[in-house]
Amino acid sequence: MTKLSVIGTGYLGVTHAACMASLGHSVIALDVDPEKIASLSAGVVPFHEPELQELLTAAIASGNLTFTTDWATLAEQADVHFLCVGTPKSKDSDAADMSQVNGAITALAPHLTKAAVVVGKSTVPVGTAARLASQLKENAPAGSQVHLAWNPEFLREGFAVQDTLHPDRIVIGVTADSDEQALREVYAASIDEGTPFIRTDYATAELVKAAANSFLATKISFINAFADLCDAAGADITQLADAIGHDTRIGRRFLNAGVGFGGGCLPKDIRALQARATELGLAEQFEFLANVGRINQMRRELVVSRAKDFAGGALAGVRITVLGAAFKPDSDDIRDSPALSVAKELMAEGAQVVVHDPIALPVVRRVHPEVNCADSLTEAVTGAQILVHLTEWNQYREIDPASLNALVAGRVIIDGRNMLDRDTWINAGWAISYLGKPGS
Ligand code: UDX
Repeated sequence: MTKLSVIGTGYLGVTHAACMASLGHSVIALDVDPEKIASLSAGVVPFHEPELQELLTAAIASGNLTFTTDWATLAEQADVHFLCVGTPKSKDSDAADMSQVNGAITALAPHLTKAAVVVGKSTVPVGTAARLASQLKENAPAGSQVHLAWNPEFLREGFAVQDTLHPDRIVIGVTADSDEQALREVYAASIDEGTPFIRTDYATAELVKAAANSFLATKISFINAFADLCDAAGADITQLADAIGHDTRIGRRFLNAGVGFGGGCLPKDIRALQARATELGLAEQFEFLANVGRINQMRRELVVSRAKDFAGGALAGVRITVLGAAFKPDSDDIRDSPALSVAKELMAEGAQVVVHDPIALPVVRRVHPEVNCADSLTEAVTGAQILVHLTEWNQYREIDPASLNALVAGRVIIDGRNMLDRDTWINAGWAISYLGKPGS
């Protein structure tokens, strides 16, 4: 059992805190936002994530998880401090905004009066860990007894609990054997399951995260560029992906063509990496990431122009239902969501848009009150001339199109995720259009 702290109670922090507490560690979690801490202390997870609510409730009840806003209490109660604050895109550039990371280290350091390991999990530009390590050494009263480690986090939204409890790999950047030992104790359960454990230096640990996310984003834009080629040549992107995916050097995962990637990580991480590489004099080598981002953006434009084609050239007054608002299924996260971005562009073109999502509508209503939402699928599709499927919730895959026939004003669907069964929709009398394979 390790006494550990979690600094920052966003997506990563709450998940990490609850999961570590469920493994038997004693966890104290801090946030600078007293409202967040009050709500978490009352056992409320502020976003949708499978299994997390149950885990948080149990962790609080067991006494293994407590919350605070006080840095002195945090430093007193824990020996290993996980830094889980956000690194959003800066307002005025593509670089990561480091103010939360810097603020946390500045606030924590003066309270570190005993030996401790501070473990960075936030996604940061390479070089950050080395800088923070010397900052801690200078400002912590315990001086060189305070160590820094870097331990990037690879969790996916929708699988955050499973990814935290059973990660693909554990990567740590450390400078001392004792820090490796401390982290081996924290992650003993995963290590016992055989999870690969990679010890390296700070810079490599930081870059592993940047490389993983930019590779995934590149894979998606690669397949989406081929989706356009398939459309131009009359080929089928799904069959192409299946066929190349059998080559284990390529692999089938992350080769689903469609409306592209969104969320709080991939879009900002590729920009931040490109910005950092440019700072390090490697602009040309990392120029491809700009193209990865551009191809991704073009997917959204493609869906809008496809809708326009179906509407006969103009969208003004056309009633369109957008199926999905979250950036991916099993999440209510709408950050940089392709679905919502398309919905807003359709609205900007004058369409009468109604958005449906099984989970994310409360967030949409709060953040984008101008978007018209419908809670039931029936209400959402009633009177629709065009349906646009943009987040691949199971609920949408299971729709019986015949059941919609009496509700809609036009039997046209654009499947922006290439997931709906062609024959099922055609047999119910619908026109279906995909991004990169023949429709009806
Ligand atoms: C990502 C990384 O996967 C994770 O390791 C990292 O820690 C955080 O960023 P996440 O943002 O939860 O996780 O989403 P992910 O599952 O990677 O999906 C990202 C986006 O890509 C989604 O919008 C998804 O719909 C899209 N996607 C994914 C595709 O368009 N095609 C695919 O084949 C796969």
